[in-house]
Amino acid sequence: MSRLIIEGGKPLKGSVEISGAKNSALAIIVAAALATEGESVLENIPHGSDVGTVCEILRDLGAEVWFDDDNKLHIRGQNLYKHQASYDLVRKMRASFYSAGLLLARLGKAEVPLPGGCAIGSRPVDFHIKGFTQMGAEVAIEHGYMKAKAENLKGAQIYVNRASVGTTINLMIAASLAEGTTILENAAKEPEVVDVAIFLNGMGARVRGAGTEVIRIEGVDKLRGIEYSIIPDRIEAGTFLFAAAITGGDVLLESVVAEHLRVPIVKLEEAGVIITRGDNNLRVQAPNRLKPVDVETMPYPGFPTDLQQPLVAAMCLADGTSVVRETIFDRFRYVDELRRMGADIKTDQGTAIIRGVPSLTSAPVEITDLRAGAALAIAGLAAEGRTELNGVEILERGYEFFADKLRQLGAKVYKEDSNIDDRRKVAIK
Ligand code: UD1
Repeated sequence: MSRLIIEGGKPLKGSVEISGAKNSALAIIVAAALATEGESVLENIPHGSDVGTVCEILRDLGAEVWFDDDNKLHIRGQNLYKHQASYDLVRKMRASFYSAGLLLARLGKAEVPLPGGCAIGSRPVDFHIKGFTQMGAEVAIEHGYMKAKAENLKGAQIYVNRASVGTTINLMIAASLAEGTTILENAAKEPEVVDVAIFLNGMGARVRGAGTEVIRIEGVDKLRGIEYSIIPDRIEAGTFLFAAAITGGDVLLESVVAEHLRVPIVKLEEAGVIITRGDNNLRVQAPNRLKPVDVETMPYPGFPTDLQQPLVAAMCLADGTSVVRETIFDRFRYVDELRRMGADIKTDQGTAIIRGVPSLTSAPVEITDLRAGAALAIAGLAAEGRTELNGVEILERGYEFFADKLRQLGAKVYKEDSNIDDRRKVAIK
């Protein structure tokens, strides 16, 4: 185990390059293995450990997956042969369930472990399974696995419950090689869904309407590999926006699609931050103290649940009371750690009431999930003294070169290996 040490209190200044979108990359890497001709070469793939896990899953299923010297990811799916995904790999990450759509489409059968609960609450895959069933798959749940068979998946009209991102993507993957047309109603509209659809179309799929509530996928006989570059990560960009905001910083984010961050930008402007949109960049200039804001998380284009924690962290030091309602996941466990740093937060069911305090103090804290890690780092950047973030591996699942990027902006951040005994000492203190 390692920890991140942050000596807070310095405004972030300078420019930082935003990486490729993790959530797009995870789906596109799996979708690339649909191709039975040629190879896909993917650019702008971020180097978090979740990406490593999805590459391992594909290799285990028989695909060839490798990074070249220019950091481009090559994927050849021709030799995919195994329909059972490994429990040890799938349990690490929920997005590995995309392998179910891939295997059903390519091999007509899939045995994929059901992802378990995680630190942000119960995260079932019942919507995915309902979709596969509607496409003609016979599905059984046995011994913690989804076992599905379908000689030929068939197009179907499917209502996607709660506009689920994962379900929309998994069904697009499965439907691309199905017989006939699949219509997804109430589809997710997230930019990552659109990115996957553009990639699939490049490979020869016929996906129309991605980014709207209705997506039509006409199945085709085969797909071929292509070169593709992943969109910038709006959640990483948002995390740096809030980090700059809480420290009273002045930061230029490079390689950003501002359109993907419309609501977070509006909320930051309400908080008193000046945001200037450039061609491919965003400049954020923050005041000494933020104003409070009220936010409700919503599916895209609403305020993303993945930025709820960074927002709450930033509001801990605002000049007044903010109310944040979380509607997508059960995602407030991390506030206990923020309280240990002096934050005044009350949670009731899905709502957090954050009363801004004049300052936060450093403390050893424990990262419980990816975005909680981002929130604690943001709090640490503004806190007085030396904050120790334990469990930094969780943060590194989805943020590439996090400490390096913060250092580039002038923050005092470094990584330290910690052993179990140290962690016990921290807990006892
Ligand atoms: C994806 C993102 C995650 C983001 C989330 C919402 C990836 C790898 N992860 O997660 O970062 O926070 O979208 O924007 O892209 N649900 C069910 N049954 C299902 C599927 C979903 O009940 O079969 C529920 C979930 O518990 C949640 C809601 O539907 O309450 C939306 O979840 P979903 O959009 O599917 O999230 P993920 O795709 O898992």
